[in-house]
Formats: sequence, structure tokens, C-alpha cells
Amino acid sequence: MFIGLDLGTSSLKAVLMAEDQTILGEHTAPLSVTRPHDGWSEQDPDSWCRAAVDAIKGLGANHDLSGVAGIGLAGHMHGATLVGADDKPLRPCMLWNDTRSHTQAAAMDGQGQFRDITGNIVFPGFTAPKVDWVRENEPDVFAKIAKVLLPKDYLRLFLTGGHVSDMSDAAGTSWLDTGARDWSDDLLAACHLTRDQMPDLVEGSEVSGTLRADLATELELPQCVVAGGAGDNAAAAIGAGVVKDGTAFVSLGTSGVLFVANNGYRPDPATAVHTFCHAVPYTWHQMGVILAATDALNWLSKLTGQSAGDLTSALGSLQAPSRTLFLPYLGGERTPHNDAAVRGHFLHLDHATDAQAATRAVLEGVSFAFADCQDALAATGTTITRALAMGGGAKSDYWLQAIATALDITLDLPEAGDFGAALGAARLGMMAATGAGAEIATQPPIARSVTPQIHLTDAFRDSHARYKAAYQAIKTL
Ligand code: XUL
Repeated sequence: MFIGLDLGTSSLKAVLMAEDQTILGEHTAPLSVTRPHDGWSEQDPDSWCRAAVDAIKGLGANHDLSGVAGIGLAGHMHGATLVGADDKPLRPCMLWNDTRSHTQAAAMDGQGQFRDITGNIVFPGFTAPKVDWVRENEPDVFAKIAKVLLPKDYLRLFLTGGHVSDMSDAAGTSWLDTGARDWSDDLLAACHLTRDQMPDLVEGSEVSGTLRADLATELELPQCVVAGGAGDNAAAAIGAGVVKDGTAFVSLGTSGVLFVANNGYRPDPATAVHTFCHAVPYTWHQMGVILAATDALNWLSKLTGQSAGDLTSALGSLQAPSRTLFLPYLGGERTPHNDAAVRGHFLHLDHATDAQAATRAVLEGVSFAFADCQDALAATGTTITRALAMGGGAKSDYWLQAIATALDITLDLPEAGDFGAALGAARLGMMAATGAGAEIATQPPIARSVTPQIHLTDAFRDSHARYKAAYQAIKTL
């Protein structure tokens, strides 16, 4: 048996997977985010460890865990978890959607070496500019940094006592030479850091350490191996069998991701497409990332006092987009704009715009944001004709139809059980424990496919053009 732990933004999910890859059980522990200022987003790193203990104990309540041979970790990417010489966090972790360091990011991005070596724009949400913000604003904290860890790697430190990261997550720091799969000493030096302050690197499918004896006893687990694991998107791809060149998924989680697996390193930073290492050796991936997907719907749900499920279930079948436009940039945007300052907008409201019309506009707006990612990927030479659909937002058929129609692609829905990144983490745990290769990361059986509504593709294309024009119009407001 194997355990996959997925450290998400709003919860930590643990799954227990058998040798034949069936999921035997799952347990989720909630997490919270604090937003002390506009653009800030933080989490207490120790809450991740408590959530992992709760989730594993939750699995243990219904299953005998004594046969667990490997644990895999997945986690939200880019967070700056700064620990001192005693391995304790020096401050709350600044998360992936924290954009306070946009000035530092722009300055670093202006030095061509970051794009050249990492293959990516230095986005404000990435780790390096956040650590630079700490250097400028909290010099006492900066002076005490013994290690800079990504969120799931802080969890690994708790589980194994080791400082290790994997290639996929490390690629989101702005310090990795993504083609060479190694830290760049030049980029670290440009940030007044050294390789000693970075975790060691392993592939996601390799062993990173073993479970601490005291924790093994407390959790009634053997002292099993812990795999390198992956950033949540690469882990979700392993869970969905998206490894072969050109296979893709669209993820409707807190953030939205259009992800494509590549058999080579294909950077094109100017497009704002992210190019990262995949979680298994000799593979990479590209992705367009939008910062608010279900987060945009949850925002509307709070505003209207109606649950996201109630808002979307009232919509019926897909209609042509209305004149009302929603730009989902509640906390800035990554692909294709790299704009930390832009904020969300509703345009063209009229007397008839009720909660239902606003919901349609929100779902359409996120769909157009995905269409922007598709255009950015096309500019790199990558075309997508079908993709697996995953994440909480994939429960809305209206949303799936809107995305399929806006992108003019077929979306495949996996059969029961969307275990996503947690399943991918468990599979990486299995690879590390048994020596199995990427071939165990098979695609799930498909329950059904959502095809574009051809009679509406022109209307969606026209509205996408209005959406792009609206961004140009509002970006200076
Ligand atoms: C990817 C990204 C998000 C986070 C949170 O670049 O920032 O997808 O990993 O899920």
C-alpha cells in the first residue's frame, strides 16, 4: 500500500492506494489562508504538519496502515517557507497567489539571465521574488534563513527530517536551471543566497528519505520511504496519466491550469506560459496558469450568499455568452498578462443582470481566461485538441461546456473519484518504493466526454475577442 498526501491551499488530502492502484480510503483535513493586506496570502507551515497527522490518522481509523511501503507528497507550488538553523519557520509562508513582491519580480525579470536559465518569467508569485521582498522588508528574517523550502518540502522535513525538493516544484522557484534540472548558482548569487540554503534535489519518483521513527510509531506506520513527490500540477498529471508528449488536462481548482506534457524542454517565457520539469525523469511540461478559477465562483458565492453548487445548478444548458463580461483577475493574473496589479471587473451590467446572469458571466470569464492560456500555448507551437477535466469546478456541466466551446476542444471526464494530485503523489510513492517507472501512471477510464457546442463557437469566439479588448481597456484603471 502507498499513501499520497496532497497539500492543497484549502485542505490537505490523504489517499491510501493498494498495489493494484485502487483507492482504499481518503481523508481530508481543512486549512486556512490569511490575507493581511491586498495581494498578500499566507499560511502557517505548522498547520500543514498538523493536517497531515490528522489526515493519516483519519486513514488509520478505517485501515491497517502497517503494510504501507511508500508515501508521496504533492503540494501547492512556489510558497516561500523560510526556516532557521533549528528548522523552525521564521515567518508565515507566502503562498503562490501572494503578489506583494511584484516590484522585486519585475526587477529580477528585467535581468535577462532569469528567463534564460529558468525558461520562465519571474512571476511575483514565484519563490525568489518573495524571498527578495523579505530581504528588503524583513532583513532580520532574511539574515536567519538556513533553508528556503517549498510547502510540501516543509512537510517532508517534518516527516523525514531531511531537506529535499523535487524537480517539478523546484522549477517554480526562479532558481532552477530547468533544462539541466539543477539549481543555478548564478541565479542564487543574484539573490544573495547560496546552494547550501537550498534543499537537495531528487526526481519526483526517487526516494527522498524515510519516515522518522517517532512519527512512524505515532501514526502506526512502518518506517517507509518518502518519494520526491511533485508540485500539485505535475502530481495531478501523474494521477491523470498525463505524461506522454502532447497529452493535456484542464484543472478547475482554486487556480486554473491548462497543462501539457512535453518530451523535451520547450521554454518560451515571453508568452507567460510556464515551462517546468515534470515529476518523472527526462520529461517537462508547459502550462498556462490563471490565479482565480473556482476562487472566482467562490467570491460570487460569498457576495450573493448562495452556494457555488446552487449558483451553477440553476443554469440549464449552455447559451451564447451575454453582453455582461467578467474578468476574473481578483488577485492579478499570470498567463498571459503577468499583471499583479490588475483586479476583477464586471462590465455591461443592466437592470436584468441577476445572480444567475452574474454566475454565467463568471463561468464564461474563467473560460475566456483559459482560452487566453490556449492562445499563449499556441504561440509556443503547442496545440491542444483534447484534455482531461479535473478539479472541483468540473462538477459544473455548464462550466465544462463553456470551456469546451470557448477552447473548441473535447474535455474527457474521468470515471468516479477525482483523486488528482493525491493519486499522483501515491503513484510517485509507489515508484520510489518499488522501482516502477512512469508506465504505472495510466490514464483513468473516461466516464464521458464534453464536446464543443458547434452552434455557439462563433459567439464564444466573438465574446473572447471582447474579453481581450476589455482587459486592454481596464488595465490602466
Ligand atoms: C502553479 C500555481 C498553482 C499552485 C496552487 O504555478 O501557482 O497552480 O500550485 O495550486
